[in-house]
Amino acid sequence: MQIKTLISQEEIQERIKELARQIEKDYNSEEIVMIVILNGAAFFAMDLAKNITSSVLVDFMKISSYSGTQSTGNLKMKLDLSQDILDKNVLIVEDIVDTGRTLYYLKDYLLSKNPKSLKICTLLNKEERREFDISADYVAFDIPNKFVIGYGLDYDEKYRNLPYIAYVE
Ligand code: IMP
Repeated sequence: MQIKTLISQEEIQERIKELARQIEKDYNSEEIVMIVILNGAAFFAMDLAKNITSSVLVDFMKISSYSGTQSTGNLKMKLDLSQDILDKNVLIVEDIVDTGRTLYYLKDYLLSKNPKSLKICTLLNKEERREFDISADYVAFDIPNKFVIGYGLDYDEKYRNLPYIAYVE
C-alpha cells in the first residue's frame, strides 16, 4: 500500500491555531461544550481544545448511521452524552464530512435537547460526496474525493496515529 502525504503535520497544527482564534472570537469567549465524535475526531478535537483559551467542556459520542430508513431513527448510539446541553453553546467536532449522513441525524438529535447554539467543526470536508443537506460552520481543510487516513482517520482501524493526513494510492 502506497501512502502519500496530503496535509503535513505542520499545516494541520497551523490551521488548528487559526481555527481556535476564530472560534474564540465568534463565541466571544463564552463557554463551549465540545462534543467529540469518536473515534476519528479525538485527535483533532484534543489539539483544537488545547489551543482555545476560553472555557471548553468536553464530551464524547460514538455513533454509527444506518443507510436505510428505520422507524427507530437513523442513528445507532454506541455512546451517548454524559452531560446536559440545555442552554449550552455546543460545538460538534467531527473528523470528516463525507455524505453528511452522520451529522444530518446527529444535529437533529442534539437540537432536540435545546442547546443555546449548535455548530459543527470538521477537520476535513469532502464536498463532492455530499448526499445530505448539511454544512460545517468550521472546516479545517476541504479535500478532493480521495480516501484519506491519519490524524484520527482510519483504514480498518489502522493508521489513526499518523501525525499527518495521507491518501492511499
Ligand atoms: P458521513 O456520515 O457519510 O458523512 O461519513 C462520515 C464518516 O465516514 C466519518 O466520520 C468517517 O468515519 C468515515 N469516512 C468518510 N470518508 C473517510 C475517509 O476518506 N477516510 C476515513 N474515514 C472516512
